[in-house]
Amino acid sequence: MKQYLTTPIYYASGSPHLGHAYTTFVADCYKRYYRLKGDDVLLTTGTDEHGQKIERTAARTGEPVLAFIDKRSGEFLNCWRNLNIDVDIFERTSSATHQDLVVNLWNRIRDNGDFYKSHYEGLYCVDCEQYFTAGDNCPIHRKPLENFSEESYFFRLSKYQQRLIDHIKENPGFILPESRRNEVLSFLKNNELHDLSISRTSTKWGIEVPGDNQHVIYVWLDALAAYLSALGPLGSDSLEEFWSNTTHFIGKDILLFHAVYWPAFLWSAGLQLPERLVVNGWLTVEGRKISKSDPETIVDPLSLTNLVGSDGLKFYFLKTVKLGQDLDFQQSHLVALLNADLANNVGNLFSRFIKLFLKNFPDGVDQDPFKLSSANQSLRLSIRGKADVFEQAIDSFDVSQAARVFIDTAGLINTHFQQTEPWKIKNKDELGEYLWTLHHCLADLTILGASFVPALIENARSGLVLCKKSSWQELGSNARKVSVRSIDSLFPRI
Ligand code: MSP
Repeated sequence: MKQYLTTPIYYASGSPHLGHAYTTFVADCYKRYYRLKGDDVLLTTGTDEHGQKIERTAARTGEPVLAFIDKRSGEFLNCWRNLNIDVDIFERTSSATHQDLVVNLWNRIRDNGDFYKSHYEGLYCVDCEQYFTAGDNCPIHRKPLENFSEESYFFRLSKYQQRLIDHIKENPGFILPESRRNEVLSFLKNNELHDLSISRTSTKWGIEVPGDNQHVIYVWLDALAAYLSALGPLGSDSLEEFWSNTTHFIGKDILLFHAVYWPAFLWSAGLQLPERLVVNGWLTVEGRKISKSDPETIVDPLSLTNLVGSDGLKFYFLKTVKLGQDLDFQQSHLVALLNADLANNVGNLFSRFIKLFLKNFPDGVDQDPFKLSSANQSLRLSIRGKADVFEQAIDSFDVSQAARVFIDTAGLINTHFQQTEPWKIKNKDELGEYLWTLHHCLADLTILGASFVPALIENARSGLVLCKKSSWQELGSNARKVSVRSIDSLFPRI
């Protein structure tokens, strides 16, 4: 099956922070999980490089805007590389191919009669790139709203209100988790949708409206279209193949754009909707959203990676945050959790097992899989049971539960190891059968961990003399011959 996954296209006005990293970790985890399952998966991320917000920020630095966005975009790319994110496509909205697609998309919507020219006057937040109907301050950035008045093209958003309600009602999996779905539904039921101002004359930094060089296309239409342009031109096979099974991973701050505007644009252009939106909550510091507009909250993911490694950082957030909820970040908790789960539990388990195995069977063990004692058989069955629970959790986007099942499984094998005291087994055949069983249980454990701590798992699998990449099909393997080799510690205590 083909699967297309996306993170938001992050603003190139600032440097990547922990909040951006978190959504990207979730997307990376699913990229790896679906590939493990044998799917053909593409993961797109990128940078949003047009609009007034970028233009103003660049102006403040005194750098030409092109040099500014190149630098910022490079920082994001570099950050994802250092965090071992499995990105396939890094889309920049300043690229020529992207701009072509946006123009084509505009023309399709125009040909469908969904644009008209009028005049806009209202309160604007440049950080959100969004008009607000009331209030003095932006509810997200807590900065004064600016009074804007301009000629504008409008998109007939109001026309799509009922269709949006119907689509969300008929497709319960379209917006996850359910609390976010309910939020959008009640918004749509209780508010009349107004047509959307879809062009700007107040900035030149954007894609020109075809046939009207006084206007640039609203940056949100431009940015959302990056999900499409990353795959290829409209109508191309590469786009068609992947688009039909798309999952957008986003934060709750941009839900409205993805759940209301984006479907309406796509319908208007005669395109299919994404399969689902998976919405995460916010990481906060002392209760305040991590955001570049609040510099005291900024946590640099790369400096944390120096302390706990990219696996450590990913694992911590995937396990600790229940997808959809907020988390107040505390570094002391990060270290304690990683030491307990990855160093003491998973790491020690592998190191004790490999030592015992090597001491007794340096040339490996050859065991008939159908001649196992009932104790060994039942251990294997209980691991299989854990894998089923893991699969159910991750398939229903309960990422933290899936991470917990991985750690519980390691705990279960650890307890078993402790209780059976294999170092006391004198009979060589009995010990061989025991270690063979444990080897297979640990191989299964690596399959559960592969989407969460990929580098650690590659090392663990090399200790089990298995190929680096695992696949879901290998669960419960009955390979007769198994062996081990010594490896570096999987996760040194911090
Ligand atoms: N450029 C737009 C997105 C366009 S997508 C077509 C944008 N960019 S952003 O740089 O502000 O990134 C917003 C996204 O980053 C959020 O939706 C979320 O995925 C992630 N996060 C940014 N701060 C975050 C937290 N403090 N906590 C969790 N996620 C956060 O909006």
